[in-house]
This record gives sequence, C-alpha cells and structure tokens, in this order.
Amino acid sequence: MSESEARLNLTYRPRRLRRTDAIRRLVRETVVRPSNLIHPLFVIDGNGEPEPIASMPGQSRLTIKGLIDECLALRDLGIPGVAIFPKLDSSLKTAEGGGALNPDTLVLRAVRSVKAAVPELAIITDVALDPYTNHGHDGVLTADGQDVANDETVAILCEMAKLNAEAGADFVAPSDMMDGRIGAIRVALDEAGLTDTAIMAYSAKFNSAYYGPFRDAVGSAQAAGTNLLGKQTYQCDPANRRAAIIETELDEAEGADVLMVKPAGAYLDIIRELRQRTSLPVAAYQVSGEYSQIHAAAQLGWLDYKRTRDESLLGIKRAGADMILTYFAKEIAAGK
Ligand code: PBG
Repeated sequence: MSESEARLNLTYRPRRLRRTDAIRRLVRETVVRPSNLIHPLFVIDGNGEPEPIASMPGQSRLTIKGLIDECLALRDLGIPGVAIFPKLDSSLKTAEGGGALNPDTLVLRAVRSVKAAVPELAIITDVALDPYTNHGHDGVLTADGQDVANDETVAILCEMAKLNAEAGADFVAPSDMMDGRIGAIRVALDEAGLTDTAIMAYSAKFNSAYYGPFRDAVGSAQAAGTNLLGKQTYQCDPANRRAAIIETELDEAEGADVLMVKPAGAYLDIIRELRQRTSLPVAAYQVSGEYSQIHAAAQLGWLDYKRTRDESLLGIKRAGADMILTYFAKEIAAGK
C-alpha cells in the first residue's frame, strides 16, 4: 500500500506539535525551575567531616560550617529555600524530647548562622519532636505509653515554633500531624510578636514507608515500626483521600500560609485536588525514599537516572505543586 493510499482523513493530528524540538519546546506546558525548589539539609554538631548518609546517595549530614557553605552554593544556583533538619547525638534524646526547647539546641544555632551568612535564603524548620525523643515519635507519649498525647504535644510545639521563629526561620513547618497545632502555633507566634513568621503546614502528611532513609539520617527510626507503636495514630492513612483533604481544610482555616502534601509521587491525586480547592500555595515534599529509590534503580542499571529524576519532578509540578522540597534541588539547579 502506498503512502497516499494509506492516508487517513484526519482533522486533528496531535503529532504535528511533537515533530521538532523547537515545536516541542514551544508547546511544553510544565517547567521545573530552580525557584520552585527547596533543598532539605541535615545538620550535625562539631567540626568534623560531612557524614555521608548511606541510604541517601549524594546526601550528607553537615556541620554548621558545612551547612553555611552549602547554603551559599544553593543561593548562587538560584534555590530560594532550605529546610534544615538536626541530627542530635543520641545522648541528647529523652522520652519527653525536652531538647527541642533548649534555647541553644543545634537547629537554632544552625538557623542563626545560616540567616546571618545567607540572609537571602528562606529558611524552613520542622516543628515536631522526633529528632529529640528517644522513641522517635513526633510528640510526647500518653501515660500508658501507647500513643502520642495530642494537646500536651501541641503546647510544646508552640514553644518550639517560637524559638525557631526567633532564631530566624522564615517558615515554621509543623510536621507532627497533631490536631489543632496550626491554630495554636499561629496564636503563640502572634502573641510573641512574631507575626511575620509564616507557617508551612505539613497538612496531608501520610504514614508512609518512603520516610525510611530520612529516619536513618536523623536517627528517628525507632518509631518506624520496630517498637509497638508506629505513626499511624497521627499521620494520614495512605488509603484516605477525603481524610487528607479535611486536614488541609483545617490547616487553612487555622491560619496556615502554605499547605503541604507529603510524600509527593504516590500522592499526586492529593496535590491535584488541593491545587484546585485552595488559593494558598501548595508545597509537595518528594521525600527521602522517593529520592533513594531512583538512585537504587539507577545503580542497578534498571532506570536512567536523569530521565527518571526529571520525570518524577515534572509529575509533581504538573499535578499542581507550586514548590517542591527535594533532595535533587541542587543538581537540578546546577543543570546536571
Ligand atoms: C518528622 C519528619 C519526617 C520527614 C520530615 N519530617 C519523618 C517522619 O515523619 O517520620 C520525612 C522526610 C523524608 O523522608 O525525606 N516529623
């Protein structure tokens, strides 16, 4: 059959717009820009060398000095924000997580130092007790040790948020999933005159297996399921879309400035729905396990590293995320 004999009588031929690179670029709908990205960073005490995190290839725990150098590099690459997570020595962890309220605790020193050295960068700090508790939970336990105590935890988180804000955090990011914490933190910040500190709420935070490598990084793995209690009484059930949307609505009503979905890749439907429901900025956290699984598959030669990485971020952006927390931020901004 000749070409003209085979010709279909089609009005629409979508392939016309995929014919050349120039045309493909002209019609491209989604672009991931450095200014959309936030780099999560891990900080440790001391003056030693960076500690590579085995389960997160390319990521290390940095001393405060190393953190400052990394923040300068990220700023120069056009990354607007960093999320700073402390890894405390296990001797500093207790059942009550009181270290979180130590006015000189590691993360506060780190925030002050980064703010002074790189004032252009937006700093985000986690508000949750898991780096400070020896059981790895995000709050204090109930008397019988069988659950995390909501209201007692919220009272501590309010104090923690104030300390973070006073140290220079631009956003405090409650990642604990206690009920009512956004409203309580907003009031606490405002009463302390910290009205300019924004709240990035981990709103739809799911009880996810993808946090595994992060828990190695900050040493909070105990709560991940090795003890009697996982995080399923406070983090959202991965099966529940409507319950997650309720969390986002509550956080918005309580005064959140940015709503976050976490993890990102397995929850693109939630990102999409949230983008359509709210006028607030939507953040998505591409978490440690999402990062590490791409590295692992690429190391095995089963996936193309860069194409998979880029596709994972495009999917998150296309779903509707305005900003993405990702461990890939630096290399993406560097065009690698
Ligand atoms: C802790 C917190 C977690 C992450 C960010 N903040 C882990 C958890 O809830 O156990 C995970 C981030 C990642 O996996 O990259 N509140």
